[in-house]
Amino acid sequence: MNIYRSQVLVCGGTGCTSSGSALLIDEFEKQLKENGLYDEVKVVKTGCFGLCALGPIVIVYPEGAFYSMVKKEDVKEIVEEHLLKGRIVQRLLYDESVHEGTDEIKSLNEVDFYKKQHRITLRNCGVINPENIDEYIARDGYEALGKALTEMKPQEVIDTIKDSGLRGRGGGGFPTGLKWQFAANSVNEQKYVCCNADEGDPGAFMDRSVLEGDPHAVLEAMAIAGYAIGSNQGYIYIRAEYPIAVQRLNIAIKQARKYGLLGKNIFD
Ligand code: FES
Repeated sequence: MNIYRSQVLVCGGTGCTSSGSALLIDEFEKQLKENGLYDEVKVVKTGCFGLCALGPIVIVYPEGAFYSMVKKEDVKEIVEEHLLKGRIVQRLLYDESVHEGTDEIKSLNEVDFYKKQHRITLRNCGVINPENIDEYIARDGYEALGKALTEMKPQEVIDTIKDSGLRGRGGGGFPTGLKWQFAANSVNEQKYVCCNADEGDPGAFMDRSVLEGDPHAVLEAMAIAGYAIGSNQGYIYIRAEYPIAVQRLNIAIKQARKYGLLGKNIFD
């Protein structure tokens, strides 16, 4: 396995994709090859960073340089200056990400936009490549499913969700644990877990963000819900206007099946 000295995170969310981030990824790959850096620098396509109005966004680690509104023509300069010579391209930095009056970079949780955010559902968005199951697993992905299936009875899973106070986020705020309890109590030959990702509320895009940026989190949660209520089939209802989310979900489902994390006899 390659150990990379730098990682270039390019936002692949809907906002940045529509402002050209896919072109940036191709250009980074091209420029890295031309500069002999392909084995040293990894380009990662991530989900949304949350600052869509400033896209396309590119973050280069380990420095954490936060480049905003990056154009294809800027990529050569980032590669030759920053990645080859170690000189951060100041003109492309998001103003808020630099300590005032200095060239010193702030960490993301010092930036105004992010510093009061405590990300739970979106913790992996903008951090991992949503098309790579290994990156989700590296962030403890599928560990909760493993624990539920191997160490807990379905009722214990439901009680954990009840105790957590988790509620629906669609407006009604219905307690999730109670919903799972009703479904578990209902006697039926076949039960289904239905994930409503249609997102009908005007201007809302939280479902899209999580599906684009962290699709395995949705699959893992559905599998846990299935175990808890006694269901072995799930459906995701998603709108055609979210092509990136649909594509990433399909990739995630395939990968999870391949790893034995969906399908029969999960974790034995
Ligand atoms: S889509 Fe790139 S920051 Fe939201």
